[in-house]
Amino acid sequence: MAQTDATTTTVTVAEAEGQIHCLIPTSKIAARVQELAGEISADYTDKPLLVVGVLHGAYVFMADLVRQLKIPVRVGFVMVSSYGDDTVTSGKVELKLDVSQPVDGEHVLLVDDIVDTGISVNWLIDHIKGKDPASLRLCALLDKPARRRVPVEIDYLGFEIPDQFVVGYGIDWAGRLRDLPYIGYVSTDE
Ligand code: IMP
Ligand code: MG
Repeated sequence: MAQTDATTTTVTVAEAEGQIHCLIPTSKIAARVQELAGEISADYTDKPLLVVGVLHGAYVFMADLVRQLKIPVRVGFVMVSSYGDDTVTSGKVELKLDVSQPVDGEHVLLVDDIVDTGISVNWLIDHIKGKDPASLRLCALLDKPARRRVPVEIDYLGFEIPDQFVVGYGIDWAGRLRDLPYIGYVSTDE
């Protein structure tokens, strides 16, 4: 039987799937991504955009988003890790991969999967601001405001969700389930 701890690394996909329930179906995600892409395309007309995705969680969302944009874009990636376990973050952020393109003078849109405590994206915003972009905005697929520890301004938000551990559409549970086409939540009471 699967352990109920969302940080476990011993759970199998089959076990995990028995505990996963749909929170946001694929069709609803697609509709919202299209709306966000419309807003972003309107805001960045005549402004060349560098879209920077936060690996790994944002890769599916970003792939869908950029393909709906009506403006020319370049894409880059960053990766950070937070020390500590998944439920109690130490607040220390380590840069694992920096954006490879020059950022100085560019309009940058940072794309993340979930803003939870806000610590990692807050750190990334400071990090990218230090590279002197012409502008910097944040697009996040999901917002869990109940868990916020540092204030974060999300310019383009997909969905606000309750304080639940979610998976799918790029978001993982111990490295797995990123390939689920919908966003599910993990129930821990089974
Ligand atoms: P924070 O905002 O610094 O606490 O970290 C946010 C990151 O933690 C997200 O970008 C995810 O990678 C991860 N995360 C937060 N909540 C969840 C969740 O419910 N499922 C999977 N990963 C999560
Ligand atoms: Mg992330």
